[in-house]
Amino acid sequence: MCGIFSYYGKKHNAPEIVVEGLKCLEYRGYDSWGIAYKSNDKIFIHKKVGKISDYTINKDHFRSSEISIGEVEDPNEIKISIGHSRWATHGGVTKSNAHPHFTEDKDIVLVHNGIFENYLEVKAFLQKKGHNFHSDTDTEVIAHLIAEHCKTHSFEDSIKLACKEIEGRYAFVAIKKDSKQLISARKGSPLIIGVGKNEDEYYVASDIPAFLPYTNKVIYLDDNQMSIIEDGKIRFYDLEKGKDIEKRIIEIDLDIEHAEKGEFPHFMIKEIMEQKDTLHRACNANSELIEQVANEIKKAFGTYIVGCGTAGKVCMVGEYLFSAIAKKHINFSFGSEFSCHKHFLTDKSLMICVSQSGETADTLEAIEIAKEKGVKIVSIVNVESSTMARISDIVIPIKAGLEKAVASTKATTSQLAILTLLAYACNGGIHEGKQLLIDTAGQINDMLNPRYEGYIMELAKRIKDVESMYIIGRGSNYPIALEAAIKLQEVSYIHAEGFAGGELKHGPIALISENTPVIALVANDECKKEILSNAMEVKSRGGYIIGVSPDNHEVFDYWIKVPDTGDASPIVNIIPIQILSYQLAVLRKNDPDQPRNLAKSVTVK
Ligand code: M6R
Repeated sequence: MCGIFSYYGKKHNAPEIVVEGLKCLEYRGYDSWGIAYKSNDKIFIHKKVGKISDYTINKDHFRSSEISIGEVEDPNEIKISIGHSRWATHGGVTKSNAHPHFTEDKDIVLVHNGIFENYLEVKAFLQKKGHNFHSDTDTEVIAHLIAEHCKTHSFEDSIKLACKEIEGRYAFVAIKKDSKQLISARKGSPLIIGVGKNEDEYYVASDIPAFLPYTNKVIYLDDNQMSIIEDGKIRFYDLEKGKDIEKRIIEIDLDIEHAEKGEFPHFMIKEIMEQKDTLHRACNANSELIEQVANEIKKAFGTYIVGCGTAGKVCMVGEYLFSAIAKKHINFSFGSEFSCHKHFLTDKSLMICVSQSGETADTLEAIEIAKEKGVKIVSIVNVESSTMARISDIVIPIKAGLEKAVASTKATTSQLAILTLLAYACNGGIHEGKQLLIDTAGQINDMLNPRYEGYIMELAKRIKDVESMYIIGRGSNYPIALEAAIKLQEVSYIHAEGFAGGELKHGPIALISENTPVIALVANDECKKEILSNAMEVKSRGGYIIGVSPDNHEVFDYWIKVPDTGDASPIVNIIPIQILSYQLAVLRKNDPDQPRNLAKSVTVK
């Protein structure tokens, strides 16, 4: 969570560059933002509560505010600006908790992403030394810790010492009033350096697209590494080994994906509609790569499939698909729960990680645990330049394209498609799998039309004011019921819960009263009869049954038709729920692209 963007170079509009860079990173957090700008040994700071996306930099505004960008006269002078878009972890959403954070005399200023786990201990120690704090954040403690070391050490050495004392994950960029250095350090949270065309110009950001308008030359900072930019040059230091290191500049072949909403009012609905194409791209995944991973699964002594949130639900579907199609048992775990499986790992185990962003801290930590045991790592990711992709042994890109809305939609169905292909490939049927997915993509193309949306809108209008709703499924559609609940919760803020159809009678059925909406996911598979009886049990207690199914069944009060796609039913069943969630969000006047309390990429544990 949290986006970092910093600039070092000669461009006179450094704060503007940082504000624009932060706008690209807003998906990482959008409750408040701030920038700091260094000019003539003075540091100016500007912070605001709210989203940065609507903000246009205005020189006059900055002159009368805490930042003056009119002060720099010498066009050759180096300009340094650091910025941050926040997703609150420590302390509420207030201006004083927004970054950058600084010491009392604004001597040291920094932006930070991650969690400083032992900050309270360190804060108490610093308070005894006379440091005063003005925010509730862990970040402010880092600034003071560095300042404390600066009493006896250089700025650079003070950061090295501070990094040894910080427990947890971090990425930060720091500046000091009387220093010409811009120093960054990383452990667990992403930080990438963009090397400007003039080579004496640098960008430091949480994600590449933020600086892609300026350069495609990047240096990936790895964990426990620090970069020092000074006098137009960059150096690197390994914090673990305690020595200087060399790092390579990589030219990346990444187009700036200018995700624009086009004719759509929101990214979420645009991305839902893009599934007409994205599924085709997933079906065209490199067959040799799929076969290679299938062989790894076949020879592994235990395969674990790991993800979080929606990606976690996709992994759960994978468990069912491998069982039904490949007759193979694989073990699912959420990233945050994976450490409990570590006792079963050997160097013959295989781990498959599923992630849109490739930056989810819980999944990355699961990879760390697995790597310690010598486990081979396969990742199925959308962001190919992500940390996960870089630390994996094999990467299957899902090619869904930039997904901007916080609620995952097109990445989800592409991940499901790749897992379906893998399950078929494990059974020697990759061509059959591809054909199934190509047919499914074609049927989704026909399904996604304005009439279909209009039909679901009728339902959305009917249920928009309910307090709770439930979703039931069986087999591979049980995890889809869980995923449907996440979609509804995220953007509509309606209390929604997913259940395995057979579990209702063991307790949750007590929640059903007159007209409680219950969505039943009814595929034409071996679970059909049972899930229909579960729907009937709900109806008998007054529930309003919304059936998502290829066929209309008597028990349904409202039928949403989906194509009959056999093993690909999880892919088609989630799409109408994505549309319904979006429509409920709009009807309830929520922002479906940036829902409250969330961030697109969850880089804290
Ligand atoms: O980037 P990842 O796929 O690893 O993200 C995992 C979850 O944080 C993510 O799926 C989250 O649940 C989405 N907001 C769901 O729409």
